[in-house]
Amino acid sequence: MPNSKTTTCQINATRLYSSLETLGQIGRYTDAETGLQGVCRLALSAEDGEGRRLVLSWMRELGLEVTVDRIGNVYARRSGLRPDLAPVMVGSHIDSVPTAGRFDGCLGVLGGLEIVRTLNERGTETQRPVVVAFFTDEEGCRFGTDMLGSAVATGRLALEQAYDLRDREGLRLGDELEKIGFLGQADEKVAAPYAYLECHVEQGPILGAKRVDIGVVTGVQAISWQALTILGKSAHAGATPMNLRADAGLAASRINVQLRAMIASGEYGEMRATMGCIAPQPGLVNIVPGRVEATVDLRNPSDLHMRKSEQDLLAFYEQVQSEEKVEIRWRQTARTEAVAFSPSLQQRIAEAAQGAGLSHQPIIAGAGHDAQEFARICPSAMVFVPGEYDGISHNPREFSTQQQCANGIHVMFEVLLQLANEIAF
Ligand code: GLV
Ligand code: MN
Ligand code: MN
Repeated sequence: MPNSKTTTCQINATRLYSSLETLGQIGRYTDAETGLQGVCRLALSAEDGEGRRLVLSWMRELGLEVTVDRIGNVYARRSGLRPDLAPVMVGSHIDSVPTAGRFDGCLGVLGGLEIVRTLNERGTETQRPVVVAFFTDEEGCRFGTDMLGSAVATGRLALEQAYDLRDREGLRLGDELEKIGFLGQADEKVAAPYAYLECHVEQGPILGAKRVDIGVVTGVQAISWQALTILGKSAHAGATPMNLRADAGLAASRINVQLRAMIASGEYGEMRATMGCIAPQPGLVNIVPGRVEATVDLRNPSDLHMRKSEQDLLAFYEQVQSEEKVEIRWRQTARTEAVAFSPSLQQRIAEAAQGAGLSHQPIIAGAGHDAQEFARICPSAMVFVPGEYDGISHNPREFSTQQQCANGIHVMFEVLLQLANEIAF
């Protein structure tokens, strides 16, 4: 049944949507090109701090017990009849890329709060506690490592290593966390929840194109990020003979074109590759670039294909170094393997969607998500909702309707209620 409406929606769709709108005002900017309203709430910026304080105030209004850990992750707990049992956790992030819409991450967090609001107003008690969480710097845009807070909480990244990350201005993550007032006291290692659930906008075109209401997320593809510094020789653009150049800009271009050629070769499965930053220095019309700072983002649903692409790319760097007389320094800034979500939770999500008359299909996540970190320590799963305009995301045009958002949180509500009332998985 395409784009059917749920008749039994458990949550208040208007209230949920209005909370997304309110949070979206923090860090709001007008996109000069399109006139659209975008959101810029970079991790640990003043705007992130303001957004965090707003969400915290909502958590407290709901009577939740709020904890901030040493990496700034925030956990809001609703007690259960059996407080000794591990909680069901609902989470995501509220930091954003600099050119965001208002849904990425926020739907998962504010959807979790809407579920709690609904339970509270109905006086519904659950056996297990329910925790709504948001994690520090999921986006990785500022400090170069994505899913940072959830990776620290679940033990993939060490706290001190995270504190010592620096942004482009050289500002240290630990100091910035303190500056916005979110350097908490609680142990950063989270106790394994009974299960972890996350609702998110799809950020791609698949569900929208097929007019499917709910994506049952099967897993997340592998991610590999590198920061490159390419060193050549800055020289006069007119007077330097071509054979005497060491053009760092050309070297960066060759790497970018090579990535596209690797994809076209078909040897790397469903590889995706992006050089999102290519910054030549001095960056002037009549000077051969002597230095380029650049980034490489590789994604692949297959770990095997990912590893092969990484190896072959490094070999290509060697080739470019010798052919272009440049030095290529590279540093791995983030690396995660492909992750599969709990089949049993996927089944429950599909059944909950079915029960509400919502069409659904399995889908793999293109983006990274906090749920992939929790999948290491407990059964975890994700619900996707479609986005309009080909599901565009990391862009002010990112947009999901009130109904699409409500459908996803309704499904979350149903699955959460089951999990929170059972003693064994
Ligand atoms: C996070 O949004 C990512 O880049 O996958
Ligand atoms: Mn996200
Ligand atoms: Mn994102």
